[in-house]
Amino acid sequence: MDNTVAVLIPAAGMGERLGQGPKAFVPVAGRPLLAWSLAALDRFGEELVVALPQGWQVRAQALCEPWVDLRRVRWVEGGETRQATVQRLLAASAAPWVLIHDAARPFLDEATIRALLGAVQRTSAASAYQPLVDTLVRVDDGAPVDRAGLRAVQTPQAFERRLLLRAHAEGERRGYRATDDAGLVWCLGHPIEWVLGGSHLFKVTTPADLSLAEAVAANRRFGAAT
Ligand code: CTP
Ligand code: MG
Repeated sequence: MDNTVAVLIPAAGMGERLGQGPKAFVPVAGRPLLAWSLAALDRFGEELVVALPQGWQVRAQALCEPWVDLRRVRWVEGGETRQATVQRLLAASAAPWVLIHDAARPFLDEATIRALLGAVQRTSAASAYQPLVDTLVRVDDGAPVDRAGLRAVQTPQAFERRLLLRAHAEGERRGYRATDDAGLVWCLGHPIEWVLGGSHLFKVTTPADLSLAEAVAANRRFGAAT
């Protein structure tokens, strides 16, 4: 069986909520967000493909090159939405397994990657998640929602490529807009295997998240932390 894994990194977003330009290149501890994910994923996957905003390839290479070995990395241009970007990433590799990780989540650990790659061999679709810790209520009537029945979805996620292609095609057909890929696969009626991620896998979305990332980075080794 061909177990080739392509690591696909959506890094083409404009970072509007953060307000510092394309987010993948905003520095944390002096290194672009994208470099953190690349360093963590360096040893996994036979192929690495990164999607960038239009016209960013030269700058992306120059900014990441001091920190990570880019020889195995291929670059593609992202799309209008994350979903469109992932479709372009999927088109750029024929590897039968894909691991997708958002450049906006810099602190990816080796244990999660390994657990995910194990899980996807069993189920063909797997995603990291984080249990919720806050009390939850509904916006419309303020009614409490039992958080034990809910999970926050994170990346990395991993899939059999054929399944994810089918999920994206079906998503397009139904006009479904998803902010992650497991959601599209779920719409096909296919089960997702959930792998416990952790709070360190948080997504840098707002300026407050960036401050948090700086604090975390100060106590973290750059590269594939275990
Ligand atoms: N992304 C992408 N292509 C897009 C939109 C998003 O590759 N057209 C990527 C981002 O680069 C990021 C991940 O998807 O790694 C999650 O998206 P998000 O956190 O929303 O990042 P941005 O879209 O850049 O931020 P914002 O929504 O605030 O503009
Ligand atoms: Mg976005």
